Amino acid sequence: MIAPAERLSIRLTVNGRGVEREISARRSLADFLREDLGLTGTHVGCEHGVCGACTVFVDGESARSCLVFAVQLDGATVTTIEGLTPPEGLSPLQQAFCATHAMQCGFCTPGMIVTATELLASNPAPSPDEIRLALAGQLCMCTGYVNIVRAVTQAAAALRGGAGETA
Ligand code: FES
Ligand code: FES
Repeated sequence: MIAPAERLSIRLTVNGRGVEREISARRSLADFLREDLGLTGTHVGCEHGVCGACTVFVDGESARSCLVFAVQLDGATVTTIEGLTPPEGLSPLQQAFCATHAMQCGFCTPGMIVTATELLASNPAPSPDEIRLALAGQLCMCTGYVNIVRAVTQAAAALRGGAGETA
């Protein structure tokens, strides 16, 4: 059994880069990303798996980084909102969130975009109801969700090559 104060070495890939660190066995992935790697695009709200603000990809699937110990991910591949952002400019989803005013304070936005990215990878033309279902675990205190659904619809259209379509 691992003592709470024990430090362990981990090696993983974050946004395409190899990372090796010695960290506390109890460090969450969210804190590891934000505080050790400086990837503050991953937001931390509730810290117990409810709000979805901390959502990232782990080995290609969305995961709540506040619920995972970083040491559990030795050898894993993690992608954060920074890794979903092109070197210059914004991704189609990020552009659509801006264009449709789908964010106000922006606290929920990284988790929304990670989850919407996962949705569009499996369903390139989701209905508004499918978008709402996919985002049901992502809480937003500001927008009322209408423009978030519109943004995902618009991004889906852009990714399919029909940038002129709107929700
Ligand atoms: S901070 Fe992880 S789900 Fe809220
Ligand atoms: S834009 Fe503020 S919580 Fe969603």
